[in-house]
Amino acid sequence: MSSAPPPGVTVFLTGLSGAGKSTIADALVAGLEADGRPVTVLDGDVVRTHLSSELDFSRAHRDLNIRRIGFVAGEVVKHGGTVVVAAIAPYEAAREEARALVERHGRFLLVHLSTPLEVCEGRDVKGLYARARAGEIPGFTGIDDPYEVPEHADLVIDTSVTPLAESVARIRAAIDRAPARLT
Ligand code: ADX
Repeated sequence: MSSAPPPGVTVFLTGLSGAGKSTIADALVAGLEADGRPVTVLDGDVVRTHLSSELDFSRAHRDLNIRRIGFVAGEVVKHGGTVVVAAIAPYEAAREEARALVERHGRFLLVHLSTPLEVCEGRDVKGLYARARAGEIPGFTGIDDPYEVPEHADLVIDTSVTPLAESVARIRAAIDRAPARLT
């Protein structure tokens, strides 16, 4: 007799550009895979290269991008898989739509990286904030485009005060304890 597989889970990291999403995703994925748990990674920059290359940063296209991510994550979770998403996902409605697409099949953990804008802008890893301030990238999140603070975050982590190892440990603990939400 075969037993039911454990439910799949999606960890959805949302926050401003430079908030630490990709850094945490990389460390989280390395730990999960070291434990023998393969992970599907849906990073905003990569998704926009392979799955959403025709999309811009209008609200409609950001929403469509997040809907696609939610759909793919749901398909993986359906088979008991683990997904780590790293996307700005600035709109509450789109994030909750992604949650609904995943929770049809398994668990969804929303992790808000609440690193303040000043810190993200100070890091400016890709030099995009400087370009946005110079008016070269109109509609840049946090500068002249909104980021709606999540109302339903399962975890809130400010990477300007929380060390990377602790951030990852908190997410791992949440993965291990999160019950399936009843839909
Ligand atoms: S989302 O809004 O659709 O969730 P996503 O996470 O895929 O965004 O992509 C964000 C990445 O695109 C940022 O890390 C940044 O490198 C780049 N980018 C280019 N233009 C913008 C913009 N107008 N606003 C935010 N990020 C942008």
